[in-house]
Amino acid sequence: MGGKEYYPPRGLRDIVGRQALVYEYVFNEFRRISRLHGFQPVLPPTIEYYRLFEEKSGEEIKKTMYVFEDKAGRLLALRPEVTASITRIYLRKLRGEVKPIKLYYVSQCFRYEEPQFGRYREFWQGGLEVIGVKDVSGDLEAAFTASRFLDVLGLKHKYIVGNVAIHRSLMRSYGIPLDVQDHVLHLIDKSMIDEAISVLNEYNVEAGMAMKDLLSRSMDELESFIDEYKDVLVDVDRVIFENERLIGFINNLRELGYEAVYDPRLVRGLAYYTGLIYEYKTIGSKLRISIGGGGRYDGLSTVYGGPYEYFTGLALGLDRIILALENSISVLQGLDAAVILSADIPISYGLKIKYRLEEYGLSSMIIVVRKIGKGVRLASKKSARFALIIGKREYSNGMISVKDLSSGVQVEVPLESLPFYLYVKQKFNSLD
Ligand code: HAM
Repeated sequence: MGGKEYYPPRGLRDIVGRQALVYEYVFNEFRRISRLHGFQPVLPPTIEYYRLFEEKSGEEIKKTMYVFEDKAGRLLALRPEVTASITRIYLRKLRGEVKPIKLYYVSQCFRYEEPQFGRYREFWQGGLEVIGVKDVSGDLEAAFTASRFLDVLGLKHKYIVGNVAIHRSLMRSYGIPLDVQDHVLHLIDKSMIDEAISVLNEYNVEAGMAMKDLLSRSMDELESFIDEYKDVLVDVDRVIFENERLIGFINNLRELGYEAVYDPRLVRGLAYYTGLIYEYKTIGSKLRISIGGGGRYDGLSTVYGGPYEYFTGLALGLDRIILALENSISVLQGLDAAVILSADIPISYGLKIKYRLEEYGLSSMIIVVRKIGKGVRLASKKSARFALIIGKREYSNGMISVKDLSSGVQVEVPLESLPFYLYVKQKFNSLD
């Protein structure tokens, strides 16, 4: 293998050492907090039929999808996100469950994007999805759970909030076809506001003007906007409901002490959103990009041939969260004990000791050596706290020599009392 083959493909990473421990810690904390807030785990497949994402993932994500044929000619994709799979899994396996259904996942996703700081071709999402809740409590419960996770990690964050239901309703009212609506929202998402307005102008100049108006309103001005357009809007009651959801979401988050701001230009890249949408940004870190996003995707089930259902959820970009926290996460490296076994002693003897250490929650590894001194040096290099030495003499006496590798102090203890002894010594942090 030449030097180049040691690299993973562009945009993919080998995560090792301290960084791997940080990833594990963050995954576990996400799972722990999700479970504490009543979410259940789900493990969707990494590969799906391409058609699952084809219709509703949005222009941007469709362009960046890894698509391929398997050996039987099926058109498949590496998942660019997990929400489409969740909707499919709900229809196939969870439809009979009592609602609300609340699910979480820690899943890697793939997008063939141009790699840059915080943007990878394989990345990890921690996601929360709520099925069967119409009112804003579903949105808030997911968002609050995510916020608590970020709080536990010590990451200050804020919410940027919008509601595409209002934009869509406005366009529908002017007879703009659905695919054009999607395109206009895509352009707004890319901050190409003038282009978005001129696309609308081609259909209806009034639609262009109304959208321009909507994009300039603050949250406090939305009510008067709806009032001014009430004769134009085909579903004014829905728009009023969605506006109340938006205000309710923001006010409740503020009540909980989180910063939340309305941005009429927020539309998000995914085409399945039908209402409230939001993104997470960090406060006081140099990371400017979104660390997460979510929203309402009510009725996505009908796109897959199922009955209408209420859906809301979010996904956090765990790689970006780890980047934002830089080195502030402390993880324990190293080992509690290295079991140093002389080469002529049965390995099973050493493994039995590991078994007993495990029962006390002490981590260990086996080192088999001809010369005990070499084993002790290796144990130090592996950052073990204790070297548990079993030479010929210790083996025949049923004893173990325990060396504290930080102080260098060594004592001999009977095998039976070893785990308890270590456990206590470690707690009191001395060995003499
Ligand atoms: P999304 O905004 O496309 O939403 O992705 C969620 C988060 O994943 C982003 O905010 C970002 O932090 C992270 N992310 C996206 N692309 C990359 C990348 N190339 N490298 C590193 N991190 C990245 C969704 O995927 C929706 N499924 C969220 C959702 C769940 N909506 C409702 N339920």
